[in-house]
Amino acid sequence: MIKHLRSAADLDADTATLILDTAGEMAALAGREVKKLPTLRGRTVVNLFYEDSTRTRISFEAAAKRLSADVINFSAKGSSVSKGESLKDTALTLQAMGADAVVIRHPASGAPHRLAQWVDGSVVNAGDGTHEHPTQALLDAYTMRSRLGKIDGLRVAIVGDVLHSRVARSNVLLLTTLGAQVTLVGPPTLIPVDIAAALSPATKVSYDLDSVLPEADVVMMLRVQTERMQDSYFPSAREYSRRYGLDAPRMRKLPEHAIVMHPGPMNRGMEIAPEVADSTRSTIVEQVANGVSARMAVLYLLLGGKA
Ligand code: ASP
Ligand code: CP
Repeated sequence: MIKHLRSAADLDADTATLILDTAGEMAALAGREVKKLPTLRGRTVVNLFYEDSTRTRISFEAAAKRLSADVINFSAKGSSVSKGESLKDTALTLQAMGADAVVIRHPASGAPHRLAQWVDGSVVNAGDGTHEHPTQALLDAYTMRSRLGKIDGLRVAIVGDVLHSRVARSNVLLLTTLGAQVTLVGPPTLIPVDIAAALSPATKVSYDLDSVLPEADVVMMLRVQTERMQDSYFPSAREYSRRYGLDAPRMRKLPEHAIVMHPGPMNRGMEIAPEVADSTRSTIVEQVANGVSARMAVLYLLLGGKA
């Protein structure tokens, strides 16, 4: 088993499948009255969050607690980071406290790689800048497999602000490793030249959402990340929505069995219409629940558990 999960590229098909299978076993636990396993008793998991998060932070905490680990939650807000303390010194402090795993979210791409040089425990990337979010890709793959029965051969459209999306990067890497066919869709300004080829040569690019929908088994809508935008990438929110938003008439172009995903948080009314987000095709709430199982599987396997 790998020691760190810094990128979805750390996962070959066998390791990714082992994590998804283990997540399935962890999910079975969620239906029980007592949701805890004693597996990580005596181990310490530190959640180190330098960037805001709702789903990822809460689900890593729930995952570690369900495995009976001791959990320390560190949020940069309210810490000595405001006094200028560096990531390295913070890491050494955590090291002194004996962290077996450090889960990190950070605005700088590559922060988990640096952290792994400074701590002895496992490092798990919970989102670094615009780079990667590998556990999101795992929970997304888990959701696709549980809804559609497989990943190999699935046609997945990832739509919207690809430029700023660590979710898109990790999903392209993981899904292509598992045999899915990915098409990135969005305005040319938000799909960096060569990104698809750089991530995986089989990945396609389209600027026309309407022509991709009838051929998709999965459509994954991405949030327009205005907080990361310094320039204007499209004429107006309304224009963006008209061309790349998923509303009910557009959703009807999908095949009968196709599902609609979104990592959250959503800009309802912009990239996704409320009636689509709340429809039976939407897996958005399920993705959050699956996030706990996928993160339990990651912590369990990285910290030495067996399938
Ligand atoms: N929550 C995801 C992330 O942190 C996606 C998003 O923010 O749009 O990358
Ligand atoms: N999907 C996701 O990473 O959500 P948060 O930013 O709320 O953690």
